[in-house]
Amino acid sequence: MTAYDFDFFDRPLHRERGDSVKWTQFGPDVVPLWIADMDFRACDEIVAALTRRAQEGCYGYARDSQAAIQAMLDYHRERYGWEIDPEWVVPQPGVVTSLNLFCRLLRDARPARSDVFINEPVYHHFISAAALRGIRERRVALSPFGVPLPDLSTLDARGAGGWMLCNPQNPLGHLWSEGELRGILDFAAANDLLLASDEIHGGLVLDAPHLYHPLLRLTRSDAERRRLMAFVAPSKTWNIPGLGCAFAIIPDPEIRSHFSRDNDQLIPSVNLFGWVGAEAAYRHGEPWRLGMLAYLRRNRALMEGAAAAWGLPLCRLEATYLAFLDCRSLALGGESPRDFFLRTARVALHDGAIFGAPGWVRINLATQTATLRVALERMGNALAALPRH
Ligand SMILES: Cc1ncc(COP(=O)(O)O)c(C=O)c1O
Repeated sequence: MTAYDFDFFDRPLHRERGDSVKWTQFGPDVVPLWIADMDFRACDEIVAALTRRAQEGCYGYARDSQAAIQAMLDYHRERYGWEIDPEWVVPQPGVVTSLNLFCRLLRDARPARSDVFINEPVYHHFISAAALRGIRERRVALSPFGVPLPDLSTLDARGAGGWMLCNPQNPLGHLWSEGELRGILDFAAANDLLLASDEIHGGLVLDAPHLYHPLLRLTRSDAERRRLMAFVAPSKTWNIPGLGCAFAIIPDPEIRSHFSRDNDQLIPSVNLFGWVGAEAAYRHGEPWRLGMLAYLRRNRALMEGAAAAWGLPLCRLEATYLAFLDCRSLALGGESPRDFFLRTARVALHDGAIFGAPGWVRINLATQTATLRVALERMGNALAALPRH
């Protein structure tokens, strides 16, 4: 049996030779730490299940996999004490699809008050989903250090019909506490908001792997539950985003049927390999997940050491593998820190501006420690050449 130890995650995948978006977007001299997937080989059980299915040589239309759905339900009950009714589950090809369907729902079902609250900064597809579906987003600024959420009683909810939450938070890496989530639930109830919680990063809590709080688990009544939906997926946690399998969990039957009215037509059904990968991940992926989190903790320590040496503030990374670095103090003469690091260090990062935080960069730590070391060393050298350093 494979041991999912540091040696396992240390082995490079050589993604530059394949079809990886992350590794082929820039020149071969660039270390890519941008788009959110991992440079780690998937666990043996996922590879074996996909191989078995591929070898059947039969790729016709597949029905939704009840085995994969059951594995997802069991996983959430056993790990997080979250009981999901199978009726609530709407399979989805991806979570970005669900974000867009939620915004469309607000637009169509609540035309007089379709504005949606989102946080700032937040994963950029929250912003684009609202714009693309023709509704207005209202940004609730998060403070990157300390307690992130402002006092919600100061928010004016007139004209707003929903809130899209990122739980845990990308890009701040914040793990919402039960108390914080309770505050958001109460705010939603007081203002009759529909609440969508993107929980794709729920399996990536670094220090306490079972501590993410599914928003739906915290509800106290049926009425409260019925204004909520959650989006979960095995994709980020087990590094299978290319397989395209996710789930919208929607307790209210009317909202569910409105949300899913284009399933199988405009919205494609889940790819058969997505089902196979999801089932194997939820059933057998736990040793890999725990080993991967230990490896990420080592990479996080490296990142924290580098940021401290550079004198740049770093958000406390509690969940996700995406570090958020504050570069606003650098004298870059108008250049964004993302462009600066790409040009001078040949390291590709995500620009904080796309999440609503110009002057910041997001650094993907889910790579081999040796690769991260090279990137951090190059970034350090680039910073050392600046006048301020
Ligand atoms: C918060 C969040 N939601 C959704 C996604 C992407 O989801 P999918 O690939 O399933 O559409 C990401 C990817 O980074 C993400 O960080």
